[in-house]
Amino acid sequence: MANSELRGLVDNEKRRAAAQALHWVSDGMLVGLGSGSTAAYFIQLLGEALQAGKLRVQATATSLASETLARSVGVPLLAPRRGLRFDLTVDGADEIDPQLTLIKGGGGALLREKVLATASDYLLIIADSSKLVPQLGQFPLPLEVVPFALPWVLDAVAQLGGEPTVRVDKKKAPQPALSDQGNLLVDCHFRSIPDPTELALQLQAIPGVVEHGLFLGLARAAIVAQEEKLLVLRPGVAPADAVDFTKLP
Ligand code: 5RP
Repeated sequence: MANSELRGLVDNEKRRAAAQALHWVSDGMLVGLGSGSTAAYFIQLLGEALQAGKLRVQATATSLASETLARSVGVPLLAPRRGLRFDLTVDGADEIDPQLTLIKGGGGALLREKVLATASDYLLIIADSSKLVPQLGQFPLPLEVVPFALPWVLDAVAQLGGEPTVRVDKKKAPQPALSDQGNLLVDCHFRSIPDPTELALQLQAIPGVVEHGLFLGLARAAIVAQEEKLLVLRPGVAPADAVDFTKLP
């Protein structure tokens, strides 16, 4: 299959997962908006539903890019404030294991994504089928790192077996990519992560690591489009046993 054809299929899965997530939004909800291309489809569709008068919601975005998109499609935005909680956050993921433990942060928004996921009653993940994995770790695990601490963080990650690389800004190479907070992003190539809980504890203990991209026990469900199927996964349910929205019960 040609690369462009594959990209088209993956894109189609992302769009279908995002469209399905719109059915999970009810009138009056406070919604967290994720980051990345799948979340962007969701934001676009949410904006269209609002403009058509089908829904009223207020939202907060997990990145400046998503905030700009949300504003451009007419989603009313709320600034962070004490006591603010979200009924639902809809976000993408880089890897999803059978427990719905996630690797996130491919787009560099892991800190704000984790803040909103934690401030939400329900985190719904939307993804194409390439994101489903039996075990996390093939996708490099992102860290957000305070610039001063970088050399020591790289040493500590290497000691954990993570082969770290500092992310480069593709448009301004060789300058490093910066998060929305102005911190560095370090991608850690672990290849396999058999114990995400243990690794999360080890990474949290490194001074200068602001946040890591392991999302443990946060996702309540994932909508994954797999060719013509639309699967709804819950923690611990194998994809083969997931609810398939494209089939009649
Ligand atoms: C950004 C993220 C994204 O949700 C993740 O990278 C998935 O992106 P996409 O929907 O473009 O595949 O974590 O920090």
